[in-house]
Amino acid sequence: MNALTPLTADQSYLRHFWHPVATVNELEAADPAGNGPIGRTLLDEPLVIAKLNGKYVAMRDRCAHRYAKLSVGKVLENNRIQCPYHGWEYGATGRCELMPACPSDAIPKKAFTPAYACEERYGIIWVRLDSSWDCTNIPYCEAWENPEFKRQIIAEPYNWNSSAERRWENFTDFSHFAYVHPGTLYDPAYSEPAIVPVDRVGGELRFFMEPGRDMLDTLPDDSPLGSWNYRNSMPFSVNLSIRLYKNDKPFLLWTTSSPVSENSCRNFMIIAHTEDDLPDSQPLNFQKLVLAEDQPVIETQPGPIYLDEVSLPTDKISNQYRKWLRELSTAAAKGEEAFKAALFTDVTESK
Ligand code: FES
Ligand code: CO
Repeated sequence: MNALTPLTADQSYLRHFWHPVATVNELEAADPAGNGPIGRTLLDEPLVIAKLNGKYVAMRDRCAHRYAKLSVGKVLENNRIQCPYHGWEYGATGRCELMPACPSDAIPKKAFTPAYACEERYGIIWVRLDSSWDCTNIPYCEAWENPEFKRQIIAEPYNWNSSAERRWENFTDFSHFAYVHPGTLYDPAYSEPAIVPVDRVGGELRFFMEPGRDMLDTLPDDSPLGSWNYRNSMPFSVNLSIRLYKNDKPFLLWTTSSPVSENSCRNFMIIAHTEDDLPDSQPLNFQKLVLAEDQPVIETQPGPIYLDEVSLPTDKISNQYRKWLRELSTAAAKGEEAFKAALFTDVTESK
């Protein structure tokens, strides 16, 4: 593999984006008071996530004293995270506020762990590792915006041994449906996908697709066949807004892949629908079926994307996505203005 050229040599641009790290449900399940802590990894950085004074916090998961992991410590009633090893207590800014072995000594300046920007939205906890430019937003999700939706399901996150880039491409790749999902998402008769306009609008990659209506006869009822409208916040989010053919109602499939490391990602999913009595398990189980078809194939791909891969015209969406990732990576190396221009300059092909 050494001779191959990676799409983006420098991944540090990803630190400027908001990424999901855990659901609120996961944090609440971790201790009886519902404040954590829990440990997660984002872009190779181990993080401790907790709720202190009613606010979510994310810090490097390393005590300044002897480098034990704070995520295996406790959240105390005084709203500090206590290290499990010698009991140092950290406040929401990441500063150590108590060293119990020497409680009256001055606390050394270096007794802190870096804290990162951390927010809750859509029942998910988001972290941005580098907020020096403060120019990116938490990805778009339509689930609570559209009043037609009666139920929003926040799925349990799942991990894949794949990069977030590969996961995103897999989710938006139309030409694999016929091979990986025959009978679940697609009729093999439609193995030549349409080539559609792709736009960049407000930091989102947008496109629209109308798979053949004839497939209604062959696909299972749970298959969300309809017109597919994508508003995908860069770099790893997909907001697939569907108008179902079977009843002309909206259905939302939202997913965001979190880059754990070059070969590992953690995936978050929200499903929104208009039904009154649909048990959550039904759409979730259908998605599980689809994911079980994808995962073994995608995990055989190398994590990084390589320029040496051979593309076809029908790979237009992934080609456009790759082009944008490359531009963002290059622009970030030049500085804030170049990065903002690369992310927020609209380019539209559709009318
Ligand atoms: Fe954390 Fe000693 S390693 S208190
Ligand atoms: Co698939």
